[in-house]
Amino acid sequence: MKVSIIGQGYVGLTISAFAAEYFDVVGFDSNQKIVDQLNLGRSHIEGVESQLLKKWISAGRYRATTQGVDIQEAELVVIAVPTPLTHDRKPDLGYIEAACKTIALNVTKPVLVINESTSFPGTVRNYIKPTIEKYSLKPIEHEYAISPERVDPGRTDYNQRNTPRLFAGLTPEASRKTREFYSKFCDNLVEVSSPEVAEAAKLFENTFRQVNIALVNEFAQIAHSLGINVYETLDAANTKPYGFMKFTPSAGVGGHCIPVDPTYLANVAEEHGAPATFIRRANEVNLEMSEYIVRRVAEDNGGKLDGKNVLVVGVAYKPNVADVRETAAELVIDHLRSLGAVVSWHDDVVGNWKGESSAPLEGADITVVVTKHDSVDEKKILVSAPYVFDTTGKVKGANGL
Ligand SMILES: NC(=O)c1ccc[n+]([C@@H]2O[C@H](COP(=O)([O-])OP(=O)(O)OC[C@H]3O[C@@H](n4cnc5c(N)ncnc54)[C@H](O)[C@@H]3O)[C@@H](O)[C@H]2O)c1
Repeated sequence: MKVSIIGQGYVGLTISAFAAEYFDVVGFDSNQKIVDQLNLGRSHIEGVESQLLKKWISAGRYRATTQGVDIQEAELVVIAVPTPLTHDRKPDLGYIEAACKTIALNVTKPVLVINESTSFPGTVRNYIKPTIEKYSLKPIEHEYAISPERVDPGRTDYNQRNTPRLFAGLTPEASRKTREFYSKFCDNLVEVSSPEVAEAAKLFENTFRQVNIALVNEFAQIAHSLGINVYETLDAANTKPYGFMKFTPSAGVGGHCIPVDPTYLANVAEEHGAPATFIRRANEVNLEMSEYIVRRVAEDNGGKLDGKNVLVVGVAYKPNVADVRETAAELVIDHLRSLGAVVSWHDDVVGNWKGESSAPLEGADITVVVTKHDSVDEKKILVSAPYVFDTTGKVKGANGL
């Protein structure tokens, strides 16, 4: 079977790499640079080995393209494009619309379209299907399904094969074909009764994390004000064998999912007249964490950061990946700079970011650890400045939450 995957980022390339073992895969991406690198067998995604990509390319099982015409032979098309927020924090379906247009203008026979991009309930039924139909040059009866992606980039214990995958088609035939496709490379398929249930479940999974992270971030502030060690308290609570799940405090949430997906849920809820106060407040608590951390750092340093050389360690949004989307490090750096600090950052996994490069891990007045990659030596962090504030709980002997 010929499969086209629209979007060759974290989600799309990961699926391509698994699917190419069983299908002929064309990876369509609008970014020419990414496509050129992929066709040279160079992966830009953690968890997708360049070696594997090279293997599929030389076997004729994978190629990347920016040309819509290259997807016209597809029998199955997966959509894996970004679903960010607009400037006024509303769901931005612009990338999905563009992907629908690519399908509509190039695919001339009926195919199964599966959406893997995260979006609100009703997206497949009320947006993707009508949009493809709107742009199609002639009426075609495509099948439609959703299978929200759950990949956690950089994670090695759970992958496409052993992470249960939700799915639902708009029709029984779409569900059947979707199961057939994923069953090749996923061992645990969970069919739900409608695409809306699958879409809502994905949003709720990430909202569950967002709310619990906000709760523990608030609790870290409470514990500090009471003079109690938050980590010891969490470990103590975690000895309860049921009814408790441990989350740890941090500088905030980052990545494409946790800071974004709950807002998709809150928006659709409010459009339907249902309050989403809890989700909205959790978002605020997580965003406020960066300010709280900078305040604590300033308090410990005589109330002033003006002119101080501050080194932020780790600007990726989580350990061991180079992904800086929505990273809390950006807010921490902005707050530090607004107080007059001279800020540089150290992150050799990221390397370059926003026109700046990773600085050496030494010689600062103050070090603030936002993300701790495994490759960064704890002892080097401790001697990088006379004062070190750790937001991760991983640097023993530093000041922290
Ligand atoms: N990254 C994750 O951990 C993760 C996990 C689960 C779900 N998701 C969801 O999956 C979707 C994709 O996320 P991602 O992390 O893979 O994003 P990404 O930014 O890594 O990749 C998206 C790719 O799509 C390409 N693209 C954008 N518009 C396009 C278009 N019109 N046609 C073709 N290509 C286009 C971009 O160039 C980019 O390479 C999002 O909805 C996201 O919320 C992501």
